[in-house]
Amino acid sequence: MQAEIIRLKKEKGICILAHAYQSHDIWEIADYIGDSFGLSQKAASAKEDTVIMCGVRFMAETVKILSPQKRVILSNSVAGCPMAEQIDAAQLRALKKEFPGYKTVAYINTTAELKTECDVCVTSSSAVKIIKAIDTDKILFIPDCNLGNWVKQQVPEKNFKFIAGGCPTHLRMTVNDVENARREHPNAALLVHPECKPEVTALADFVGSTTEIMSFAKKDDKHSEFIIGTENSIVQHLQLEAPNKRFFPLSKLCVCLNMKATTLGDVLECVTGVGGEVINLEEDQRIKAKHCIDEMLRLG
Ligand code: 13P
Ligand code: SF4
Repeated sequence: MQAEIIRLKKEKGICILAHAYQSHDIWEIADYIGDSFGLSQKAASAKEDTVIMCGVRFMAETVKILSPQKRVILSNSVAGCPMAEQIDAAQLRALKKEFPGYKTVAYINTTAELKTECDVCVTSSSAVKIIKAIDTDKILFIPDCNLGNWVKQQVPEKNFKFIAGGCPTHLRMTVNDVENARREHPNAALLVHPECKPEVTALADFVGSTTEIMSFAKKDDKHSEFIIGTENSIVQHLQLEAPNKRFFPLSKLCVCLNMKATTLGDVLECVTGVGGEVINLEEDQRIKAKHCIDEMLRLG
């Protein structure tokens, strides 16, 4: 299947983008792998006319928002991000009325509809830099209050309002998991994603986005063992890429079924032209949503 996907994507001039949480067999056929910020940058610069996004719906929407002339295909139509739909545009308009004078900062894990109501997007790897650069100290941060609280610790001079949103996958990791993992692997460093609960990030040796966790683990020469507090595909990728080190999941439950919805078979159907979902957005919505992604790329 991999050989056929590679042959067809070259023949048809298709670009395959894959989020870091995709499984390794999909990494091997992708043209670019990255975290949400890296994928957004690629979405803006990819030369090909057709882009297949192996990730979740908001990532494919981001490609379409930035490159409306391209045919953008979400690798599996059931792959959504539950966090992206935890608040809708009407609820956000009500919040903005409640907090006048606040800039609305949206985690990129939001629907295109919600982005039309926001001032700027951020990703886990760009949030601190962007929020520091915003020309106001009043920030209404949606939807992930855990990422938001982690950013607040790095930018204490600003005033934040949060809602009770978050990633159901990362919220499965607990302090009890940290205690058990530390006991089983006393020499390992604990690396976690900022979508984890504050009491879990507080115990970590390093907090960062998916690609930041990977590059930290590969470069760190103080440790040879790592406990990984993010989606468990990162454990698999690291073990394959750094075979002399050892990697353990913080929790076996940290699996995102949406990210894992895409299989090699789905990608083969996409390059063959019989699978996936072609993403279309109303032009009015696309233009309004583009503003906050452009701001993210400019400030980040
Ligand atoms: P990053 O890719 O920015 O680390 O985000 C993780 C995530 O949960 C994406 O859905
Ligand atoms: Fe959404 Fe969390 Fe899955 Fe990322 S890991 S796609 S934030 S549910």
